[in-house]
Amino acid sequence: PDHLSIAVVPGDGIGPEVVAEAEKVLGAVTSAAGVTVAKERFGLGAEHWLATGETLTDETLDRLRSFDAILFGAVGAAPGDPRVPSGILERDVLLRLRFALDHYVNLRPSKLYPGTTSPLARPGEIDFVVVREGTEGPYAGNGGTLRAGTDAEIATEVSLNTAHGVRRLVRYAFELAARRERKKLTLVHKHNVLVNAGRLYARLVEEVGAQFPQVEVDYLHVDAATIFLTTDPARFDVIVTDNLFGDILTDLAGAVTGGIGLAPAGNINADRTAPSMFEPVHGSAPDIAGQQRANPVAAILATAMMLDHLGHPALAARVEAAVERDLAAHGNEQRTTAQVGDAVVAALG
Ligand code: NAD
Ligand code: IPM
Ligand code: MN
Repeated sequence: PDHLSIAVVPGDGIGPEVVAEAEKVLGAVTSAAGVTVAKERFGLGAEHWLATGETLTDETLDRLRSFDAILFGAVGAAPGDPRVPSGILERDVLLRLRFALDHYVNLRPSKLYPGTTSPLARPGEIDFVVVREGTEGPYAGNGGTLRAGTDAEIATEVSLNTAHGVRRLVRYAFELAARRERKKLTLVHKHNVLVNAGRLYARLVEEVGAQFPQVEVDYLHVDAATIFLTTDPARFDVIVTDNLFGDILTDLAGAVTGGIGLAPAGNINADRTAPSMFEPVHGSAPDIAGQQRANPVAAILATAMMLDHLGHPALAARVEAAVERDLAAHGNEQRTTAQVGDAVVAALG
């Protein structure tokens, strides 16, 4: 459609800094194409919580449901900030949105662009996508603490995995692999120890894979996957994995693919029963917040993923091409967050 309604959640730390640049790029690429964008900002995060005691109310969640998509920065206080209990914003804002809006695919591409550096590979050699489960696994919130504070304390987090949840994730990953040049899918799990969830993932990869004979299937235990991600990242095409493994692997993937400041993510509701949400892989980076030192490219590439999801693949490609041109020309220069955003807008041509 040539009209988009976007909810913007800048969040905490560097979130507002990088989202401002993403909005610049979104504005430039859409207005040039005659696409109008109606945006509404939602002030969720640490400040809002400190001021009101609210994380994400049911009313706000319901309002968010009415948008075409959500552009999200990051939430979370500095680890150890005494005013904010660890994880309250992450769980009650970010994870609540992912679960409530059924973002069962957490799509996290890694590409090594010319002009960026990896300790491990040459540009062009890294181009893979992690299809991370988004609504289950150890993130499901099952567990608890018994006899808290004593020597007999028992703390559990129970990983929840359903055939329905894993099958729809795996199907998405196979469909994606089938569209890509190399057509290779690697299941990453740890079924030597996590036998129950591991067996479920393996069974469904085999079952769904039978419908995709053109896709080559491979399996790695997650510990070994970290070896190959650092020694031979070029071997990967599509990785499908559970929520927690995918979280860890995609920070590693960011680090070996030009830096975490370049890595975008889409929280996708592939059935389109609710808006999808697009954000950087990184967090609020309190160590550099407010200094115009954050790289906005991850947020900008997340915006490209959003345009693609909303039926504008040509605009998404224009944004990615502009990022690529800018990185090739200036990738290793010290620039402010706003300078990078302006340069990407200029590179749109
Ligand atoms: P982080 O990703 O915020 O930062 C890790 C390191 O990467 C820091 O040194 C940071 O300066 C650097 N970095 C991150 N983004 C960058 C960018 N765009 N440009 C340049 N450098 C960048 O991870 P953390 O320190 O573990 O977490 C900080 C807070 O963010 C915590 O409260 C955490 O829970 C939260 N968090 C939120 C999200 C989210 O909202 N999606 C994701 C991850 C972490
Ligand atoms: C991410 C983050 C989140 C996650 C946290 C902040 C809940 O690390 O988006 O990668 O673990 O999924
Ligand atoms: Mn993470």
